[in-house]
Amino acid sequence: MARSFAIVHLPRKYDSPEVATHLATLATKLKAIRLEALKTDPDAFGSTYEREVAFTDEQWAERLTNPLAQHVVALDLREPGNDMDGKSDLEMALAAPFVGTTVLIGPRAVSSSQVSDSQMSPSASPWAQFHDAPSVTTETLSPGTELQYAMNGVWVHPNGRRAGLGKQLIDGALEAGKRDMKRLSAPKRVNGFVVVFVEKDNEPATGLYEACGFKNIGEEEYTSAGGKEGVVVALRQNISLN
Ligand SMILES: CC(C)(COP(=O)(O)OP(=O)(O)OC[C@H]1O[C@@H](n2cnc3c(N)ncnc32)[C@H](O)[C@@H]1OP(=O)(O)O)[C@@H](O)C(=O)NCCC(=O)NCCS
Repeated sequence: MARSFAIVHLPRKYDSPEVATHLATLATKLKAIRLEALKTDPDAFGSTYEREVAFTDEQWAERLTNPLAQHVVALDLREPGNDMDGKSDLEMALAAPFVGTTVLIGPRAVSSSQVSDSQMSPSASPWAQFHDAPSVTTETLSPGTELQYAMNGVWVHPNGRRAGLGKQLIDGALEAGKRDMKRLSAPKRVNGFVVVFVEKDNEPATGLYEACGFKNIGEEEYTSAGGKEGVVVALRQNISLN
């Protein structure tokens, strides 16, 4: 039977001509679904539609080319003719409509003695917090360091909800983190973890993260980059390479 949905990873690098030629198309699709998410569920995100609708095409492209970003997308294959058998992630992402997204941001190195809390502020942009941290390389990783990632922008279109896509997007992001950790930490095998912030009263998202194994590690008041105030819960999941 044909699949209704697929989860794919967008390219991380756009320096080869074969991939670079698709950057503008992917950035346009990413922009469309992110703006739809901000419009449909304004209370779910720190940012706002008004803030991001003003972004330039270059800013959307930078979200994709950012070396600290790994985008995971759910594709809608329900339209006739959307048979994707044998196609690569990139080919599928170009051909099918986006129906869900998330992005894993990071890593940054945190000393193991400091990881008992989230080490991040929900008030600031997660992008800025990772950009401002020293970049992580295999050479700079020391024993007693953990790699921290943040998951952001989890969204599934209302017409695709309760079909397991949220869970599959998160599994995809965790898998991307694991791959990244293996690449960076070999042969040192450091530990890693992912943090996500969720509005305290966002029951679907809290239910989703808990169903995916995230644990509540505390609550904080915040004023977001988009100017919103509220209380968020920080949830964390460890990534193990074993
Ligand atoms: C939260 C969201 C991503 C869930 O997506 P989804 O594809 O419907 O989730 P799934 O089908 O994978 O659900 C997995 C589990 O999460 C939990 N869950 C999902 N939706 C839920 C809801 N409305 N109420 C309670 N629990 C819910 C359940 O445990 C569910 O398992 P079940 O269906 O076997 O009961 C989606 O509702 C959404 O986009 N909401 C608006 C944006 C948002 O809040 N993003 C999070 C920002 S922090």
